[in-house]
Amino acid sequence: MQSLIVDGGNRLVGETRVGGAKNSVLPILASTVLTDGESVLHNCPVISDVYSAERILTHLGCSSSLEENTAIVKSSVNRYDIPEKLMCEMRSSIIFLGALLGKTGRCTLSLPGGCELGARPIDIHINSLKKMGAVVTEKFGTLDFSAPKGLCGSKLILPFPSVGATENIILAACLANGETQIKNAAREPEIADLADFLNKCGAKITGAGEGTVIINGVSSLKGSEHTIMPDRIVAATYMSAAASTGGEIRLTGICRNDLDSVVPVFEEMGCYVYSYGDSMFIKANKLHSVKKILTMPYPAFPTDAQAVVMAALACAEGTSVFVENIFENRYQHVPALTKMGADIKVEGKVAIVEGVKSLSGANVYATDLRGGAALVVAALGAEGRTVIGNIHHIDRGYENIEKSFSLLGGKISRK
Ligand code: EPZ
Repeated sequence: MQSLIVDGGNRLVGETRVGGAKNSVLPILASTVLTDGESVLHNCPVISDVYSAERILTHLGCSSSLEENTAIVKSSVNRYDIPEKLMCEMRSSIIFLGALLGKTGRCTLSLPGGCELGARPIDIHINSLKKMGAVVTEKFGTLDFSAPKGLCGSKLILPFPSVGATENIILAACLANGETQIKNAAREPEIADLADFLNKCGAKITGAGEGTVIINGVSSLKGSEHTIMPDRIVAATYMSAAASTGGEIRLTGICRNDLDSVVPVFEEMGCYVYSYGDSMFIKANKLHSVKKILTMPYPAFPTDAQAVVMAALACAEGTSVFVENIFENRYQHVPALTKMGADIKVEGKVAIVEGVKSLSGANVYATDLRGGAALVVAALGAEGRTVIGNIHHIDRGYENIEKSFSLLGGKISRK
């Protein structure tokens, strides 16, 4: 088991490029199952979740390679089952369901793994696919989906704008008969990126990234070339680290519009943020608390940025309040931050952060992906040495995190 060793207290200064978004590349890799021929995906992050997706693709009969941030997938699916071992590696494995069912009319899999952020049911995925004609049976924890008469376009109103369910329905609807309408669809930009790729492959999708998505089924899709959108959560992580170290950094390769709910939080903290084109400059001053941060579906403040921003606010002057509205168990980083000296009280959905003067290095463990990144943000700004264990969680979504922060002047290494 590897650890990150962080000697805190060094201002981050310099420039770094934000890579492609994990939550975009994973559904896009799954979507290649629907296509015939080769797809080339540029700006692909080299992270362990991408390798997990590649293992699923290889198991299904496709070939996949990843070199210098370009993934090449040759799609030729010859089976419809995903073994439990592969399903357990990450939550996004569930996105293969819509793609496999759409392509082969069958899919056998178990419940997915991924970050333990609460119950994370898949009822919205299943009920929507059933309305499109899928038949589901469950035996010993294995779910078997079939579409004996093919999938049919349907009018669906989601009870909650679930990101994964919206993606699964889009994937299932691409090759279905007729028109599918998704109302109360998730509006995350990663969904628009998935639709952009699929439309390049020949799909007919409109409205992705808005509340109503319409998909008209086509008879086949051809592989295509696409550049994965920037990772807005990695950008928020760098911004948080700049804030926690009192640094000044320039981020390139970002999409400023995707950060509309995040930038005002940093401005309220007292940071100076200036954007131009695909770059953003952030300079941290003395940090102030932020009155209230409510996590909600896009375009509101993202749950995925809650932990890293909390790490930065641990040393801000005054009291900051978080309300986590998406996941029931997404404050698992709090005990480790407290061990480092933070003053944070959690009650149900609410976390109250009383800013302290400084944090101190400690031995801590990552419990999930973004919670792990929050520990890195805290450690970079803390006094003394922090050793972070269980960093496989962090590697799921951050490409070579120690290198990126070292290049900005952080003292961080892997052992
Ligand atoms: C996606 O997860 C992201 N993962 C998550 O990012 C992100 O936190 C989340 O969306 C919310 O933005 C990927 O894109 C791969 P949801 P997903 O379905 O699709 C409930 C990260 O750190 N729900 O929108 O699993 C669910 O329990 C990760 O990068 C149901 O009740 O999220 C949760 O409370 C972690 N029934 C809420 O909806 C369902 O059938 C949001 O889940 C589906 C979801």
